[in-house]
Amino acid sequence: MRTIAIINLKGGVAKTTSSINIAYILTQRGYKVLLVDNDKQGDCSRGLNRRTQDGDGIDRIMVDRHPDMDNLIHHTDYANLDIITANLGLLTANTEVIKDPIRPQQDRLKKALQQVSDKYDFCVVDNAPDINVSVINALTAANDVLIPVEVDDNTLEGMDELLNQITVVREELNPGLKNIHCFITKYQKFNQAHLQGAEIIEERYPTMKTKIRFSGVVARSTFMRVPVALHSPRSAAAEDYGILVNEYLDMIGGKE
Ligand SMILES: Nc1ncnc2c1ncn2[C@@H]1O[C@H](COP(=O)(O)OP(=O)(O)O)[C@@H](O)[C@H]1O
Ligand SMILES: [Mg+2]
Repeated sequence: MRTIAIINLKGGVAKTTSSINIAYILTQRGYKVLLVDNDKQGDCSRGLNRRTQDGDGIDRIMVDRHPDMDNLIHHTDYANLDIITANLGLLTANTEVIKDPIRPQQDRLKKALQQVSDKYDFCVVDNAPDINVSVINALTAANDVLIPVEVDDNTLEGMDELLNQITVVREELNPGLKNIHCFITKYQKFNQAHLQGAEIIEERYPTMKTKIRFSGVVARSTFMRVPVALHSPRSAAAEDYGILVNEYLDMIGGKE
């Protein structure tokens, strides 16, 4: 199983939209995928109609020594796409984790995922706009990091900080972390600021070639709780997510 962490310190940059659509499109390419909602807001779980109660999601993975993965993994409405949910229980769970003086705190997700690594080809982890112990767990478990970036006035705010943190995790905790790439989301090519902003990002950071264009239907598909790649497969955003997944698969040379 190859694990992709979708991360940005900023909210609203399309982390959840990207996680859901990348995961869904990977299933369309014939892979078995586990989606992990690693944000206490539970948007990813809601997006796939799988909200759960506190104590029935990733919070268990953070606190239990032997999390019961069979119980924590739920099927979704889509073939070959399963999910581990998140809810506000993750807040208390993380407080418990950082008070735990005995067990290591950063490798709990990695260890839990190892239990099911032969059942899936890919794991996609959606994260909170934060660097907390949950996000560090995602980075410790990941092979690849994809950073959705929305071009706006303060796009680059937090980017260097995030990349520093990723480097520290790679050096201290996860030498297996391979690819770290940004990709541009909600892109409007007729917007001069977007054109220039995208150039700056591409100059400064390793960036995927594919940009995800802005599509009005994304908001609607989010509201309908259906991946836009299924809801409106011909929309610009859905097409771009398909191309992004191809670019990603080329980059890693197919799955391991
Ligand atoms: N390509 C896109 N075109 C238009 N709207 C988008 C696109 N991607 C995401 N959005 C919208 O942007 C908002 C934030 O997206 P979301 O995935 O929840 O971000 P995050 O998880 O980073 O907070 C949502 O309302 C979503 O519908
Ligand atoms: Mg989100």
